[in-house]
Amino acid sequence: MLEQLEKSHQQALEALEKVQNEDDLLTWRADFLGKQSPVMSVFDNMRDLSKEERPVVGRRANEVRQALEAAFEARRDALKEQALQTALKTEKIDVTLPGRQHELGRLHPVTQTLRRIYRIFNEMGFQVYRSREVETDDYTFTYLNMPPHHPARDMWDTFYTNTEGIILRTHTSPGQVHAMRQYHPEPIRVILPGMCFRYEQVSSRSEMQFTQVEGLAVGKDITFGDLKGTLTDFARRLFDTDVRTRFRASHFPFTEPSAEMDVECFICHGEGCSVCKHTGWLEILGSGVVHPNVLRFGGYDPAEYTGFAFGMGPERLTMLLHQIDDIRNFWRNDLRFLEQF
Ligand code: PHE
Repeated sequence: MLEQLEKSHQQALEALEKVQNEDDLLTWRADFLGKQSPVMSVFDNMRDLSKEERPVVGRRANEVRQALEAAFEARRDALKEQALQTALKTEKIDVTLPGRQHELGRLHPVTQTLRRIYRIFNEMGFQVYRSREVETDDYTFTYLNMPPHHPARDMWDTFYTNTEGIILRTHTSPGQVHAMRQYHPEPIRVILPGMCFRYEQVSSRSEMQFTQVEGLAVGKDITFGDLKGTLTDFARRLFDTDVRTRFRASHFPFTEPSAEMDVECFICHGEGCSVCKHTGWLEILGSGVVHPNVLRFGGYDPAEYTGFAFGMGPERLTMLLHQIDDIRNFWRNDLRFLEQF
């Protein structure tokens, strides 16, 4: 029986050598350590042995079983290690491969101009005040000193809605009255950026949708001189420290007096060229001293308070800054255009 035992031990070890995976390993365990296995059946057949033989065979059988169990575990660990090593080899990440390029987005050129404008006015103490794009007729015209049927309303080609009195704002000026009604009787220094809409023939010079940046200062002793100083300084900060500016008399129903500001053409420096249409000057904004009626609609007493306001078009400024000749580029979504900024 001892001989038999040694033979089984040998066989088992040889078989184990050939085991290459988990499944075969489990089969091996059933074959060589299971109840029916040759080694285990030695224990069942003990009673057939003599008294002297029994302890000797018993001890050896136990040793063999333990040896096989240990061999089984060692083989299992070895297989696991092997699997790990192949995985490490075959699933290796090559960190030296160049990464995939992420396309970085960028800010729209008009947004870039808007942010420059915000920064400049921010430095001068103006806060950004936002108001709605869908407006009432009253805020857009009446409170800006243009009562219903006033012919001056024709200066703005308006989109009307099906709801009586509700329109798309044609300029950011209605925000002036919103700001005044919110802040009166406190002094105000705000800029009002935002989208405006006009029922206009689209051309290289005019879009039906565009941004404006309005400005408003209200307080005591604010004069036309403050307006000129603020806007001249703005032009110097936006264009060039020694850019020349000029104010031309103009008319807006909500300011009196009104003026348009030009900057010296920075292409030809006043010589005259195609960009400035040979005038040497570029018009950049409309402005004026806030009309007493508008102050009154905003809740301020015009005997005590004065103010100035202005409005500019960031698309136009962007066109001047980058010599863009067609305003339609801004909404065309052509990457060849947009990626230049
Ligand atoms: N709202 C005017 C326009 O759209 C511009 C402007 C604003 C003029 C404020 C004077 C004062 O043309």
